[in-house]
Amino acid sequence: MSDDLGFGIDIGGTGIKGAPVDLASGELADDRYRVDTPQPSTPAAVAEVVHQVLEKFGWQSAFGCTFPAVVQHGVVRTAANVSREWIDTDIAALLGEASGHDVAAVNDADAAGIAEAHFGAARDKSGLVVVTTLGTGIGSALILDGLLVPNTELGHLVIDGEDAETRASAVARETEDLAWEDWAVRLSRYYSYVESLLWPDLFVVGGGVSKKPDRWLPYVECRTPIVAAQLRNSAGIIGAALVASSHHT
Ligand code: BGC
Repeated sequence: MSDDLGFGIDIGGTGIKGAPVDLASGELADDRYRVDTPQPSTPAAVAEVVHQVLEKFGWQSAFGCTFPAVVQHGVVRTAANVSREWIDTDIAALLGEASGHDVAAVNDADAAGIAEAHFGAARDKSGLVVVTTLGTGIGSALILDGLLVPNTELGHLVIDGEDAETRASAVARETEDLAWEDWAVRLSRYYSYVESLLWPDLFVVGGGVSKKPDRWLPYVECRTPIVAAQLRNSAGIIGAALVASSHHT
């Protein structure tokens, strides 16, 4: 392990996970620690859990954190799948004051995109890569020649009159008990629509479903090459740690 350690915390709707990250290799430097997201997930309650995660590792320095919403210069702007109390909360300042350390806050899918661009499926890819995360919602990250264009919200494209994530997220598949092939029909519609607008060079698909891509990926039809993300559940933590470090420009 190198001495070049960072720390990332991935704040999600159901779990808050953190770990130290080896910034040279992009690997977690210790087992990640997970705490259920408090319900209601108010800013104060989440800040308390973030404190617990830092304490667990004795981390006493700058860190990065993800949030499942638009995060503009440290300030949360939307709240599709979290408490609306977050809107206009300066999450970087809140967690910075609570911990006494500098905090870099970033949208969850953007963090995953940055991690995949550095260490995963989008590594060394030139041109436009669209990284999507399929979970409770659909998150997106646009990476152009390795650089992130932040806060794209391609999960909320309205396709066939519906918010795309309500049809094609991983949770939509579970809630509606869809067969993988049937879900893949929705994914095909989604990715074909996105490609008609952006004409990317590559789609990278992350989220829990990236663990077993053989179940659904072969059924997805679109003209753009499409691959599963490589960093799985750790992409958010790794991306958050990168954003907080000098490794990310
Ligand atoms: C939010 C995005 C987020 C995505 C994945 C969407 O509902 O609007 O900001 O990245 O869910 O959590």
